[in-house]
Amino acid sequence: MVVCHCKAVNAEFIRSLFAEKSFSVADVTEQCGAGGDCGRCLDAIECLLEQSPIDQGTQVAVVIS
Ligand code: FES
Repeated sequence: MVVCHCKAVNAEFIRSLFAEKSFSVADVTEQCGAGGDCGRCLDAIECLLEQSPIDQGTQVAVVIS
């Protein structure tokens, strides 16, 4: 599902950012531009942040191979 139409960024990509580390919405904008144009997707990005395991205090194991 496309979240940011201005920058063509989908929810899966934004979720992957939130899964990597404790990103803020501003961090997402800095990383991929989502939310940095018209701003209409900022609420949707905020919702994805609230759903992220890291934001909810759950520890996530990251395996780097
Ligand atoms: S829809 Fe995301 S900045 Fe416009």
